[in-house]
Amino acid sequence: MEKELHEHPLVIGQTLQRMVDPASRRVMLPEMPFDLASVPRAVITACGSAFYAGMIGRYWLEDIARLPVDIDVASEMRYRNPPLTAGSLGLLISQSGETADTLAALRSLREKAVHILSVLNVEHSTMARESDVVLGTVAGPEISVASTKAFTAQLTVLACLSIAAARARGTLDEAGEDALVSALLDLPSRAAEVFTQGPAIRRMAQIVVEARDVLYLGRGSMFPVAMEGALKLKEITYIHAEAYAAGEMKHGPISLIDRTVPIVASAPYTPLFDKTLSNLQEAKARGGRLLVFTDTKGADRVSAIAEDMVMLPHVHDFVAPILQTIPVQMLAYEVAVLKGTDVDQPRNLAKSVTVE
Ligand code: G6P
Repeated sequence: MEKELHEHPLVIGQTLQRMVDPASRRVMLPEMPFDLASVPRAVITACGSAFYAGMIGRYWLEDIARLPVDIDVASEMRYRNPPLTAGSLGLLISQSGETADTLAALRSLREKAVHILSVLNVEHSTMARESDVVLGTVAGPEISVASTKAFTAQLTVLACLSIAAARARGTLDEAGEDALVSALLDLPSRAAEVFTQGPAIRRMAQIVVEARDVLYLGRGSMFPVAMEGALKLKEITYIHAEAYAAGEMKHGPISLIDRTVPIVASAPYTPLFDKTLSNLQEAKARGGRLLVFTDTKGADRVSAIAEDMVMLPHVHDFVAPILQTIPVQMLAYEVAVLKGTDVDQPRNLAKSVTVE
């Protein structure tokens, strides 16, 4: 897992190389047997970390491409029997391309005459064979059970897909595309800088390892990042963690807060920074210990309230969830090392779950 975490900058770069034309700096997707401009709706479905990647993809597709998106975990999607207009887009996300629930969801979407686009790391997988289009993540083999580099590669593909859909739908002009593509192309070097924060992440791990329960918070596209952080912690350290939308904390989990429940928050300096910070202040006022992932622009205000923080480079809002994912995964890894659990082969889990 440590090796795969360090491959984040590389796989983001490799995935971009496949999707962005270097001369024109425009997103270039493979030929598709349907037109993104006329797709009435997208349905995203996946399991585990891939599902959280899909949640971030929904923010992008709705915001940039103005495409209505429905999303659910694959093991539930089928039972909802969502009404879908023929010609809608089924967007499946899977590292392995073999997850039984995601494959079953793919087949049930296929029955509704929707176009099937899959974002896959293993390009010769069952899901690849059954899809109309495959967008490959170029993450290389991922061996550790808990997904890391495949997740940021999935986000990179979804970001490019959102840009292409926005261009096709006329919701993004050339200058807008230029700004988003530049932010993406800048990511591999910004991601490499995250590793300088190792000492701060290891300090946070010393606090988290003592906890029985941990609360992860984020707003907007940082909410799925918080969910990914909580999932990683559960998977490899066996510490109970729960992710909440920062604004929803006051409707329940705030009652859990005391010194024994650390709060891990993802709060880069985006338009949602002030609101996230005010939620964190509410938690602090109730005795919460705040461990905050922020960036160079948010650092001053975060340091005034947080017990500890990790300061990442400031990047465009669009790509912030990709960058912010790296340290939350690193935190889970460091806690697992302190606990001495089997990081690569956690108990009861499998890399690819081929039963429903
Ligand atoms: C398993 C793994 C998770 C992974 C999920 C989906 O549960 O433990 O890390 O996110 O499967 O796998 P997929 O191959 O479909 O992305």
